Amino acid sequence: MANITFRRQVAKWPGDFSSELVQRVVRMNEKVFAGMFEDPPYSFTDYYERLAEVASIVITAETRGMVIANCVAYPIEDMMYVWILAVLPQVRRHGLARRFMDAIELMAKEQKLATVRVKVYNVSMSMQVLLLNRGYHIVQVVPSPTDSKYNEVYFELRLASST
Ligand SMILES: CC(C)(COP(=O)(O)OP(=O)(O)OC[C@H]1O[C@@H](n2cnc3c(N)ncnc32)[C@H](O)[C@@H]1OP(=O)(O)O)[C@@H](O)C(=O)NCCC(=O)NCCS
Repeated sequence: MANITFRRQVAKWPGDFSSELVQRVVRMNEKVFAGMFEDPPYSFTDYYERLAEVASIVITAETRGMVIANCVAYPIEDMMYVWILAVLPQVRRHGLARRFMDAIELMAKEQKLATVRVKVYNVSMSMQVLLLNRGYHIVQVVPSPTDSKYNEVYFELRLASST
């Protein structure tokens, strides 16, 4: 895939965050996650509330001014929590998610965090394969009261200590 621009922002909302970029991320994710889970995709307000007061990381891949993939993560105590990872269907299986996870894990190591944690709903099989292939382990499953496809599956990667 040619002409892809990668951008990484580390920001404390609303601070120096580009809300215009986040709006484009929200619009893309509304498409990717529409109908996938029990709840509708997160709104701009959800992003605002979730990212307020945390040093969050937003990574985007863009082509011709359009966001085609994005990842949102932030540290919680000694872990890096990957909240969102989405790639448009037409550009999947080109290594974009892998590249984002590489960046997130590297940043977590640089911040000397102990783990990277990702919550995946059971329906997201591609994401589960991706994580298992990267050495993540399932550390918790929260059953959905309505349908097992909505079970929350928590994956964790323990980062090697640098000492
Ligand atoms: C999951 C998702 C982010 C993967 O993005 P991607 O850019 O296509 O992933 P990559 O190309 O980096 O794939 C990396 C590895 O993940 C695994 N993988 C990705 N998609 C897969 C699929 N459909 N089936 C099986 N394995 C898959 C493979 O191991 C792959 O390596 P390979 O291509 O060398 O075999 C993308 O499918 C997506 O946006 N899905 C919908 C949203 C979602 O479920 N997000 C996760 C919720 S937290």
